[in-house]
Amino acid sequence: MKAIIPVAGVGTRLRPHTFSHPKVLLNVAGKPIIGHIMDKLIEAGIDEAIVIVGYLGNMVEEWLRKHYSIRFTFVNQSEMLGLAHAIWICKPYVAADEPVLIILGDTIFDVDLQPVLNSPISTLGVHEVDDPRRFGVAITEHGQIVRLEEKPDEPSSNLAIVGLYFLRNAGPLFDSIDHVIENGIRTKGEYQLTDALQLMIERGEPITTFPVIGWYDCGKPETLLSTNETLLLDKQPRIKEYPGCIINDPVFIAENASVENAIIGPNATIGEHAVVTDAIIRDSIIGNNARVSHIMLDYSIIGNNALISGNPHEINIGDYSEIRVR
Ligand code: G1P
Repeated sequence: MKAIIPVAGVGTRLRPHTFSHPKVLLNVAGKPIIGHIMDKLIEAGIDEAIVIVGYLGNMVEEWLRKHYSIRFTFVNQSEMLGLAHAIWICKPYVAADEPVLIILGDTIFDVDLQPVLNSPISTLGVHEVDDPRRFGVAITEHGQIVRLEEKPDEPSSNLAIVGLYFLRNAGPLFDSIDHVIENGIRTKGEYQLTDALQLMIERGEPITTFPVIGWYDCGKPETLLSTNETLLLDKQPRIKEYPGCIINDPVFIAENASVENAIIGPNATIGEHAVVTDAIIRDSIIGNNARVSHIMLDYSIIGNNALISGNPHEINIGDYSEIRVR
């Protein structure tokens, strides 16, 4: 089965990291965001992916082709006109009677996709949230969606659409998107997938929901770090020991990283070939080839190839003195 994965976004809220990397290649708990998503898809039997790229798309393509051997088609979204538009440009690559799974490329889910892909009717992943105003919202009756609204100011439900959509037949979806685009139907200035799905419902397509309990946002530094923390808890137990260091699990330390005279964790990811010496690192993500020394880092994200080094202090003070170095 095919998955459509839109990853064209610029990731402005994750600058400066997204100046040099597409958001989906940012490392969380030892692998890029898109790697977590791909592993889930492949585990569920997806054997073909249509990836909608834009900003720094060649880096995404290169990484995916290097790490996965399923069939890929990369389509370029040159104008950011909304999610429905992104899906619409995939139309030539999907047959009308084919089922399709759409999965937003910047959110990590913990959900068993098998029953979803076997669902006899189309179904959308939802999660109950306190404030659904920044999401698409599903209003259901007797288990079926009766209405969808994109980012409503006054939501009639608190079931947020998480970004996982299974459509039994791609044909009616593309027909609805055609209608949305041809008639210039925009919400919040964009062609919305939610509006196209709403039209499908109006045209008689039954669509239901499935709950997504594990829904991990990676859109801003704080959520990237909290997702790092959550995913590290699921990691295999660490085997390697680091003499002279204290490791407070959960942590991910790349096999080829060098860690000396350091306290690492909890909730720290240390990237490939990173070098950490005389440092304390917790609740942080250290990029590949980064060098960190003589410093204590908390809730920090250090980019690839970056260097951060503090100053060991040489102090000679007498009895009863008080010095607080900040
Ligand atoms: C998109 C969808 C929205 C959905 C959200 C999930 O919005 O349009 O319906 O709830 O993803 O993250 P975006 O976050 O791209 O504005």
